[in-house]
Amino acid sequence: MAKKDQSQENNLLKDIIAHAKEYGFVYPSSEIYDGLQAVYDYGPYGVELKNNLKRVWWESMTRLHENIVGLDAAIFMHPTTWKASGHVDSFNDPMVDNKDSKKRYRADVLIEEKAAQYENAGDIDRAKSLLSAMGKLMEAEDFAALRELLINEEISCPISGTTNWTEIRQFNLMFSTQVGSVADESSTIYLRPETAQGIFVNFLNVQKTARMKIPFGIAQIGKAFRNEIVARQFIFRMREFEQMEMQYFVRPGSELEWYKAWASIRMKWHEALGIPVEKLRRHDHEKLAHYANAALDIEYEFPFGYKEVEGIHSRTDFDLKSHQEYSRKKQQYFDPEINQNYIPYVIETSIGADRLFLMTLCNAYVEEEVEGKQRTYLKFHPALAPVKAAILPLTKKDGLPEKAREIVEELKYDFNIIYEDAASIGKRYTRQDLIGTPFCIAVDHQTLEDNTVTIRHRDTTEQERLPISELHHKLGEACSFRNIVKHLA
Ligand code: GAP
Repeated sequence: MAKKDQSQENNLLKDIIAHAKEYGFVYPSSEIYDGLQAVYDYGPYGVELKNNLKRVWWESMTRLHENIVGLDAAIFMHPTTWKASGHVDSFNDPMVDNKDSKKRYRADVLIEEKAAQYENAGDIDRAKSLLSAMGKLMEAEDFAALRELLINEEISCPISGTTNWTEIRQFNLMFSTQVGSVADESSTIYLRPETAQGIFVNFLNVQKTARMKIPFGIAQIGKAFRNEIVARQFIFRMREFEQMEMQYFVRPGSELEWYKAWASIRMKWHEALGIPVEKLRRHDHEKLAHYANAALDIEYEFPFGYKEVEGIHSRTDFDLKSHQEYSRKKQQYFDPEINQNYIPYVIETSIGADRLFLMTLCNAYVEEEVEGKQRTYLKFHPALAPVKAAILPLTKKDGLPEKAREIVEELKYDFNIIYEDAASIGKRYTRQDLIGTPFCIAVDHQTLEDNTVTIRHRDTTEQERLPISELHHKLGEACSFRNIVKHLA
C-alpha cells in the first residue's frame, strides 16, 4: 500500500472507531478512568449486532448440520487442561522492547509488517524469504538470531525510529488467578485462552449423551482471555474477547478431506453474510502449530490490511491424546461401521466474534455524497441490523403517536423496533441511517384514513406506500436469517 493510501486507510479506521463510539456500538472499557487497554464494552446497538452475528453462526452450525450440537463449558478449567494442551509450555509470543522509546512489541509482528511492506512494493520473493527466515528461527527458538534479523532488516521502532532493541524474550499469554482463599501454587488457575479445550474435555460426555456418531461436531461460543503484548487496532486484538469454535471429530485418515470441506463451507459463510469475495482471501500456513497437520486463515481486507478473521485447523488427535495421557481416562470412540476403537482426529473452525463484528462494521460503513451533501450510513444486512425498523409519527399530535404505538405493539414481539417522535422526520431518518436501521416507517395523516404507511429504504432512501397489515410479513421476509443461510444450502 502506498504511503498516502495507508494514511487514508488509517483515517477510515479512525472514522469507524469514532462512529462506533458516538452511535452506541463500542465504548472503551471503564472509560471514566481513561479506559483499560485492549478491553472494550458493547453499547446498545453493538450488543444487538453482536448477538445477531453470534446467532447466525450458532444456527448455521447447529441447525444446518444435524450432526453438530452445542456446548457451554465454564471459563475456569482444571489447570492440568492447559498443561495437556501445551499452553503452559508453549503459548508464548516473542517480546522485544525498544531501549529508546521504552515501547514493547511482538518481534514476529514487526517482521510480518516489514514483509507486508515488501509485498506492497511488489517484492514478493523478498517478503516470502523474510517470513520463511523468521519461521525457521521461531521454530528453533533462536531469539538471538531473530533479534539480528530485526536489526539487519533495519526494522525500527515507529516511535523512536531506532533499531536499539533489547533481547527477545518469550512471554506467556495466559492470565492466571487463584481459587480459594490460600494463594499457593496448587491453587493457580487460568482464564481460558481458547474455548476449544472445554469441547475436548467434554468430547465423550457429549458423544455419549447426545448419541453422536462420527463424523460429528461440537459448537461453542464463549469468552477467551489473552494477555496480548501489543494491543492495537481497536477490537481486532483484545485481551478479553469472544470465540465461536467448532470441533469436528472424524475418522483418522479422513481429516484432510474434512479440512478441505470445512475451509470451503466457512468461506461461503462469509460471502453469505454479504462480505464481497474480493475482500476475502485464504492464507495457508507454512509454519504449523504443534498440534496441526494443516491450517489456514480466512482473511478480510480491513482498513489496516488483510488480517485473520477465522482459522481452520486440522488438529490431528493431539488434544484428545494428550488429555488421555494426562487424565489417564480413555478418550476413545468405538466406530461400529469399522468395528474399531480409536481417538478421533479433529478439524477446528475458530472465529472471533469481535473480529467478525469489526469486519461487519467496516464492510457496512458507507460515506457518500448525494447531491452535494455528505451521507454516512451502515448498510448492514437486514438480518444483522441491530434495529429492524423505526416507527416515526410525522407529528406529535392529531392521534399520530397513538397510531404509531399500535404499529409498535404489533411488531415488537418479533422484531427489534424503535419508536421516535422527536425532531424533524429528516433528522430522524439520518439518525436511523447512522445506526443501520434498514426500514423507517412514517405514520402520517393518510395513515389515519386508509391504514397505510410510508416505508423508507435505508440504502436507496426510496419510499413506498404499504398497508399496515403487510408490515409484519415485509419485515419478516427481509430480516429472516433464512436470507443468509439459504446461500449455504
Ligand atoms: N482454538 C484455536 C484458536 O484459538 P487462534 O487463531 O489463536 O486459534 C482463533 O484464534 C480466532 O480467535 C482468530 O481467528 C480471531 O478471530 C480470534 N482471536 C484470537 N485472538 C484474539 C484477540 N486477542 N482479540 C480478538 N480476537 C482474537
